[in-house]
Amino acid sequence: MKVAILGFGTVGVGVYEMLEKCAGLEPGPVLVRPGKADKPFKVTSIEAIVDDPSVGAVAEVMGGIEPANTYVAMALKAGKHVVTSNKALVAAHGIELCELARINGVSFLFSAACGGGVPFLHNLAIAAQSDKILSLGGILNGTTNFMLDAMQSEGKDYADVLKQAQALGYAEADPTADVSGLDALRKIMLACAVAYDKLPVDGFSREGIESITAADVADFQARGLTCRLITSGGPAGDSVYAYVEPVLFPASSPECAVVKNFNMAKYNGENAGAIVLMGQGAGRYPTASAVVRDLCGLGSLEMFRPACVEVRADNSNCVHSYYVRVNADKADRFSFAESKAAGNAVRGVTVPMAVPVMHAIAEDIRNEGGSIFFAAMEG
Ligand SMILES: NC(=O)c1ccc[n+]([C@@H]2O[C@H](COP(=O)([O-])OP(=O)(O)OC[C@H]3O[C@@H](n4cnc5c(N)ncnc54)[C@H](OP(=O)(O)O)[C@@H]3O)[C@@H](O)[C@H]2O)c1
Repeated sequence: MKVAILGFGTVGVGVYEMLEKCAGLEPGPVLVRPGKADKPFKVTSIEAIVDDPSVGAVAEVMGGIEPANTYVAMALKAGKHVVTSNKALVAAHGIELCELARINGVSFLFSAACGGGVPFLHNLAIAAQSDKILSLGGILNGTTNFMLDAMQSEGKDYADVLKQAQALGYAEADPTADVSGLDALRKIMLACAVAYDKLPVDGFSREGIESITAADVADFQARGLTCRLITSGGPAGDSVYAYVEPVLFPASSPECAVVKNFNMAKYNGENAGAIVLMGQGAGRYPTASAVVRDLCGLGSLEMFRPACVEVRADNSNCVHSYYVRVNADKADRFSFAESKAAGNAVRGVTVPMAVPVMHAIAEDIRNEGGSIFFAAMEG
C-alpha cells in the first residue's frame, strides 16, 4: 500500500525511511509547505494526495490542530486510512475523526500520539476488548523524566536541566506543554477514551514540575524518595478520573528505574493483572515505528469505539498523602502528619487528602503570591 505523509520533519522523515524498507508498504507523496518541494516526491497541496487513487493511507505527522484536522478529514472522506502521531489533534477532534473513519470504512489510528515508540494505546485497545481495565497511566512524558532524573542524579537545579534538555532536543524552545503536564494530560485523555469509551475533556487536576527546586530534590532524596511526573487514569462511576502530578516513590519502585527520557506506561487488567511497557516515548525512529506499526495493523483495530463520548473527569475519590514545601505563613492550609520548618518554608507530609483539594489549595496559594511544591506519596 502506498502511504502519503503530511509533514516532513522529525517524525515524517523517519516514517518515510521506514516505509522504504517495510514489506507491503511504500512511501507516497509527502506534503511540505509551498516553496519546499525540492524533490519530485514532495507536493504542496493536500489535493495532490487525497485525489491520488494510488494512495491508500495517509500518515499525518505535521502537528497542530489546523490544518491537520481539515486534511485528515479530507483524507478519510476520500476513503484513505489515516494514522497520526498528533496528540493535540486526537484530544481535540478524535471522536469525530473516528466516526468519519467508520462512515468511510477506513481506519483512524494514533498509537504514536501516546508513548511514542511504546505500544501503549495499541495494546490497550486490544486489551479493552476482552478485559476490564482497572487503572492506567505511568510516566508518559520523556522530557520531564529526563529533567527529574538529571536533577536527582546530578544535583542540578531546574533551570540548568531544562537548558540541558533543550540542548539535547528533548525539550522544545517553548517547553510549557511538557513541564506543565499538559502533554502528559493529553496522553491520559486518549488512553481513557481507548480503555473506557470516555474521553475526559475537563475537570482535570494537572500539576507539572515547574516549581521543583534542587533543595526539594535534596530533601526527598534524604528521605530515600525519587520524584517522577505521573499520569493516572481509571474508571470513576459514570466518568473517569484523569490527573497528572509529581509522585514520590521509594527506591524499590519500578518507576525509579525509569531514567533519562524513557517512558513507562502501565495498565492493570482485571484478568491480565499489571502490564508494564517501557521504552522510548519520543524521537524520530521510536515515534516513526509506532506510526508504521499502526499502518501494518490497519483494519484490525479500532482505538475510539462507537460508544466513545466526552465526559468531565471526576477525581474526587482519588486520595493521597502529599509531600509539601510551602511558605511558612501558608502552612496552616494543610493538616500535616509530620512537618518541619526550614528557613521561611515548611516541609512535611500531609494526612490523606483528595486530589482536587490538594490542587485547588496550591492554586490559591500561588494566586496569593505564595510558593509551593507538592508531590503525592506513592501508595
Ligand atoms: N518528535 C517526537 O519525538 C514526537 C513524538 C511523539 C509525537 N510527536 C508528534 O508528531 C507530530 C510531528 O512532530 P515532529 O517532532 O516531527 O515535528 P516537526 O519536526 O516540527 O515536523 C513537522 C513538519 O510538518 C511541517 N508542517 C507543519 N505544518 C505544515 C503544513 N501546513 N503544510 C506542510 N507541512 C507542514 C513542518 O514544516 P515547517 O518546519 O516548515 O513548519 C515540519 O517539517 C506532532 O504532532 C508531535 O506532537 C512527535
